[in-house]
Amino acid sequence: MNFEKVAVVGAGTMGNGIAHVFAQNNFKVTLVDKEQALVDRGFSNISANLDRQIKKNIISPEDKQRILDNIQVQTRLSLIPTDVDLLVEAIYENKDAKLSIFNELETNIKFDCIFATNTSSISITELASASRADRFIGMHFMNPVPVMQLVEVIRGYSTSQHTFDTILQLCSAIGKTPVEVNDYPGFIANRILMPMINEAIYSLYENVASAKDIDTVMKLGMNHPMGPLTLADFIGLDVCLSIMNVLYNGFNDSKYRPCPLLKKMVAAGKLGRKSGEGFFNYTEGK
Ligand SMILES: NC(=O)c1ccc[n+]([C@@H]2O[C@H](COP(=O)([O-])OP(=O)(O)OC[C@H]3O[C@@H](n4cnc5c(N)ncnc54)[C@H](O)[C@@H]3O)[C@@H](O)[C@H]2O)c1
Repeated sequence: MNFEKVAVVGAGTMGNGIAHVFAQNNFKVTLVDKEQALVDRGFSNISANLDRQIKKNIISPEDKQRILDNIQVQTRLSLIPTDVDLLVEAIYENKDAKLSIFNELETNIKFDCIFATNTSSISITELASASRADRFIGMHFMNPVPVMQLVEVIRGYSTSQHTFDTILQLCSAIGKTPVEVNDYPGFIANRILMPMINEAIYSLYENVASAKDIDTVMKLGMNHPMGPLTLADFIGLDVCLSIMNVLYNGFNDSKYRPCPLLKKMVAAGKLGRKSGEGFFNYTEGK
């Protein structure tokens, strides 16, 4: 593996975390979003997260500048350097939108660049169909990316062994622990996590307990570091809903139906932490 250049498409929660981790490990990163304000926000989140790492003595103040210098931001896909070795797509969880990114980049980016998607749940095989299927793979990072150890590495039907081995090495090179998972809806992480979160939302919807008490049960009773409703707010309720829909449609099984309360909150724009309100309120003191 001789990778140097990485492009990350989408500078949101996951995209800026992925860019951060590659830049921290000396890769040259191009971070792309649709508008200047969005890439600027992604870049300042990286800067703020680096400050946190300095406070925790994980990096030095000199490291921060070096890491930021490894990142270039762009607002158009056509401005991604054509010689990038890896492209990681981290736009919102929508199959057609993701396909159109890969379609557009297929002709511009060099032949042996590996295309990866950070999708939480959409079939890797279907996403690979727009482009280089043998050099296409799922890299499912966890949130927050600079902190979480795991990457689920998902092979599509046509992913080559070489692509898979390269991505495993790359995960180790950025200090992550990869786990091999086959291409089924939700992979492993979300197949188990999301129905649990959805059940917590049903418990609230049916007034079994308050949001705070549901979270307390799971924290103190199951030793989870964070309650499921707080975690849902952290992930984003729109992301949770799209993952439940992928499980529901992918398995064609009613046990995965999203809770009506989840649908209603997304329709009302209550998306969790990122919108200021979800199951809990995040605007106090702002
Ligand atoms: N949030 C999580 O905890 C989490 C965890 C693992 C995986 N994921 C997956 O990661 C992906 C991104 O999720 P997120 O939470 O970062 O979403 P987000 O909404 O925070 O960020 C998505 C970003 O993509 C940008 N974008 C949309 N279309 C674009 C385009 N055509 N070109 C460039 N940029 C574009 C948006 O402007 C936005 O800034 C999704 O597939 C999600 O399922 C999310």
